Amino acid sequence: MSKKGKASKASGKLGILLPGMGAVATTVIAGVYAVNKGLSSPIGSLTQMGRIRVGKRTKDDQPLIKDLVPVHNIKKVVFGGWDVYDDNVYEAAVNAEVLEPSLLKKLKPQLSKIKPMKAVFDKKYANRLEGKHIKKGKNKMVLAKALMKDIENFKKENKCDRLVMVWCGSTEIYIEESAVHKNIKSFEKGLENSHDDIPPSMIYAYAAIKMGIPYANGAPNLSCDVPALIQLAKETQTPIMGKDFKTGQTLMKTILAPGLKARALGIEGWFSTNILGNRDGEVLDDPANFKTKEVSKLGVLEQILEPEINPELYADLYHKVRINYYPPRGDAKEGWDNIDIRGWLNYPMQIKIDFLCRDSILAAPIVLDLALFLDLAKRAGMGGIQEWLGFYLKSPQAHKGVKPIHDIFKQQIKLENTLRHIAGETLLDHLGLDYDK
Ligand SMILES: NC(=O)c1ccc[n+]([C@@H]2O[C@H](COP(=O)([O-])OP(=O)(O)OC[C@H]3O[C@@H](n4cnc5c(N)ncnc54)[C@H](O)[C@@H]3O)[C@@H](O)[C@H]2O)c1
Repeated sequence: MSKKGKASKASGKLGILLPGMGAVATTVIAGVYAVNKGLSSPIGSLTQMGRIRVGKRTKDDQPLIKDLVPVHNIKKVVFGGWDVYDDNVYEAAVNAEVLEPSLLKKLKPQLSKIKPMKAVFDKKYANRLEGKHIKKGKNKMVLAKALMKDIENFKKENKCDRLVMVWCGSTEIYIEESAVHKNIKSFEKGLENSHDDIPPSMIYAYAAIKMGIPYANGAPNLSCDVPALIQLAKETQTPIMGKDFKTGQTLMKTILAPGLKARALGIEGWFSTNILGNRDGEVLDDPANFKTKEVSKLGVLEQILEPEINPELYADLYHKVRINYYPPRGDAKEGWDNIDIRGWLNYPMQIKIDFLCRDSILAAPIVLDLALFLDLAKRAGMGGIQEWLGFYLKSPQAHKGVKPIHDIFKQQIKLENTLRHIAGETLLDHLGLDYDK
C-alpha cells in the first residue's frame, strides 16, 4: 500500500450536522436508524452497497467500497442540526410525509430525541418560511461564532471524535459572487458588517470550514463556492464540495445525454418540467429562489454536449427547465422530459421520459455518502474542493481554470480512481492492458 493519500482509521464516533432538518435530512436520519436496526436496506448508497473493481480484470476482484477504504461505520454516527422550526426529527419526518408512519413509529424514541438547534436565518433569503426558532446576534460574525459554539457543545455532549456538515436547508435566493467573497479578509469584514451578499448558508459554511469540519452543500445557492471559503478550506485543510444534490431529472439527464453524444446523435431541444408539492417546492415557487435552481439545472447539458466544439450536433439546442409547485403530490415528484433528437441524414426523432420519483428517497443516500466520503477525505489529508464527489451534485464545484464535469460516467471514473488512490491501489485507465498476457 502506498502511504500517499492513505486514510487513517475511522475510529470513534462521527457527528453528522445538518443545517435544515426538513424532508431530506429527516429521511437520511430515519433511514440510517432503520438500516442499523435491520428494518431496511441503504439502496442508492455507494458507501454502504457499492462495489469497486481493483487490480487486473483477470483477478475479478470487486470488493465493497467500504471494505477497500476505511469508510466510517454508520452504527457509530450521531446526527444533529439546525432549523427555523423547532419540531424534533420525528415530528419533522411525519410532516414531510416521505416515510411510512408505521416505519417512523418504530424509530420514534430515537428520532424525537434529536431537536434542531436555533437557526441562523433571515427571511430575506427564503421568504416563504415562517419559522421562529432563530438565533439573534448584532451582526453575521456574532452569528457565525454562535454556530461554532453550538458545534463545540454538540461535539462534547455527544462525545464525537470527528464532525462533518451537509447543508440540507432550503434553496436561498439567487446571489452572484461579488467583492465581499473575494478573499478571507473581505469575507470576514463582510460578516462584521452583515453584508447582504452573505446569506445564512455561507455563515454555516464559514463556521464549519474555520473549525476544519468538512462541508458539503446540497442546495444550489453558492454557500462554500466562493473564493474566500475555498481559500479558507485550503488553509484549514478542510474538504469541501458543492452544490445541489443530483437526484431526479438532472440525474436522468446526465445519464442520457452522454449516451446520445457518445453515438454522435444530434439534439435540437430538451424540455424538462416537474410538479412537486413539498416544502422545497413551495420555497422554489418564489421566482427569486427558483432562479438559483434554474441556473444550477441549466448548466448541465452545455458542459456535456460542448456545442462550441460540436456545432453541427448541438449549436441550436433549446433547453428549458420548469418547476411547478403542486401540493397534492407532496414529495412524490413527477418529472417529464421531451427530447427532440436528430439522426442519420438529419431525420428527427423524439424521446419522452416520465420519471415518477421520490425526491428525498433519491437525496438521502447522497447526503450519507457525501458525509462519509468527506470524512474519509479529511482522514486522507485531502483539503479543499473534492471534485471526485461531483458525481453526487448538479453543479459540481471545480478548481479554478477547469470546467466542471457533468457526465455521470466520467464522474464515476474520477470517484472510483480517487478511492483506489486512497486505498493505494493502481488506478484504472481502461486501456485493455489490465490482464495477464
Ligand atoms: N430532494 C431532492 O431531490 C433535492 C435535490 C437537490 C437539492 N435539494 C435541496 O436540498 C434542500 C433540502 O430539501 P428538502 O426537500 O429537505 O427541503 P425542506 O423544505 O423539506 O427542508 C429544508 C429545511 O431547511 C430549513 N431551513 C431553511 N433555511 C434554514 C437556515 N438558514 N438554517 C436552518 N434551517 C433552515 C427549513 O425550515 C426546512 O425545514 C433544498 O435546498 C433543496 O433544494 C433537494
